[in-house]
Amino acid sequence: MQLVETLAKEAKNRQVQRRFRLHRRGYSMPSPALAAIAALPQADLKSIFNTDPDRLSKLVLTQGPIRFDWSKTHLTDNLMAGFLALAEEQGFAARRDALFAGEAVNNTEGRAAEHPAERGEGHPDSVAHAKMLHARMRGLIDAIEAGALGEIRHILHIGIGGSALGPDLIVDALDGDGVRYDVAIVSNVDGTALERAIEGFDPHATLIAIASKTFTTSETMLNAASAINWMVEGGVDDPYGRVIALTAAPDRAMEWGVDETRILPFAESVGGRYSLWSSIGFPAALALGWDAFESLLEGAAEMDRHFRLTDPAQNIPLIAAFADQYYARVLGCQTRAVFAYDERLALLPSYLQQLEMESNGKAVKLDGSPVDGPTAPITWGGVGTDAQHAVFQLLHQGTIITPVEFIAAIEPGHTLDPAHHRALLVNCFAQGAALMRGKANVDDPARAYPGNRPSTTILMDDVTPHALGALIAFYEHRTFANAVLMGINPFDQFGVELGKEIAKSIETDGPTGFDPSTMALIEIALGDG
Ligand code: F6P
Repeated sequence: MQLVETLAKEAKNRQVQRRFRLHRRGYSMPSPALAAIAALPQADLKSIFNTDPDRLSKLVLTQGPIRFDWSKTHLTDNLMAGFLALAEEQGFAARRDALFAGEAVNNTEGRAAEHPAERGEGHPDSVAHAKMLHARMRGLIDAIEAGALGEIRHILHIGIGGSALGPDLIVDALDGDGVRYDVAIVSNVDGTALERAIEGFDPHATLIAIASKTFTTSETMLNAASAINWMVEGGVDDPYGRVIALTAAPDRAMEWGVDETRILPFAESVGGRYSLWSSIGFPAALALGWDAFESLLEGAAEMDRHFRLTDPAQNIPLIAAFADQYYARVLGCQTRAVFAYDERLALLPSYLQQLEMESNGKAVKLDGSPVDGPTAPITWGGVGTDAQHAVFQLLHQGTIITPVEFIAAIEPGHTLDPAHHRALLVNCFAQGAALMRGKANVDDPARAYPGNRPSTTILMDDVTPHALGALIAFYEHRTFANAVLMGINPFDQFGVELGKEIAKSIETDGPTGFDPSTMALIEIALGDG
């Protein structure tokens, strides 16, 4: 009895101390459900399968071609119950319904977030609109393939952020066999990026796709103008005749000089970082073929249906968010690492950086009050096995605990000796086991591994358009589920505006009124002090 009382008292103390710590750091008081979760004892991963031999059946879920394994995280029955209570407290089911019903879930901008409608899941009017715009995109692709724009061998896609990262990921992951065009995706305003991309491209056989939701983004517009100059210098008579615009602002694209027939619009309610399913996915649809693009959409739609219809206790994106919340908000882990053990998914970590950090790197809740704890951790990562020889030292023995996510595919992306793929997968699985198990060394602490370090493993059957669509939709819904559990809006991104405004003011009004450091940098590097 005494032990039970002591444990209860300690739990209470931990809870009070944590609430006080967060409150002192400027956060509002945490939700009762989160406070209850924080008071639960932490399991030790080293013995967690002994304590709960049924973990695999509870914490491994399969959806279509992807198997999600949380059994090497600290999630326990008690924590799951606590998080299900948090989901209930935060109105998860109602917010999920609002997302799919096309309600204005992006409350600060007063609009819906209708990326699922692009996959056929959402408000019927929005789904019909998206289908009509996809048919328009398909029509243009068919015309291009029939030679309407002359010979096309190269696609130069110009866009930044959500207008580049998604298409780049898909094309890079899927264009292994049957490459139909050379695709270059240019985002950076650094001219080196464009110069390198067009090196080897014939301007007479290049199609330029300008991807910008707003059609005002300065980097994209400057790169687009330089690409036109390159065509003119290359002797192309009608360079604008080779330009396609992918945008939610068709009027601006027309003003810029793109013919109406070559503008592929998408809905304003599709957010930039959620837009690869819309006409922003044009280079993927053209380079991989329409069937592959449709299969990508269908894979995503299957994940949409899973997320929309499955109970919280079995809901894959929501359970992923439970683990995320536990590490970021309860244990205070400031980063989350993602390692693709597959070269085809090499661009996934940078895609996820935008998706997760631009969505959930927020400090206020839906009602504008301060959040009650840390929000999105820093997402980072790379490819395995390379990363093992670069950053894994810290993951195994460093003092910072980082939840790790491994993503691998059972089928290889190459036809070389199967030993390659076997070695890749063996390494992937060994890392998760090592992080969890650790290794004692009483004689030499430098050679000891603490273990008890969490990881998740996502195992795909293969990197197909269908599976990739499902994987990306899983990440989108997980990001949304995290936002719901924290009571924040994942669909705005005002944080990116201030820097843009200052850069613009330097260009328009000149460098005045800045701090001495900024003034000196401008004078030394740009000569306009
Ligand atoms: O700066 C952030 C951002 O607005 C992203 O959200 C977006 O994906 C990117 O810029 C590009 O914007 P646009 O598609 O309007 O050019």
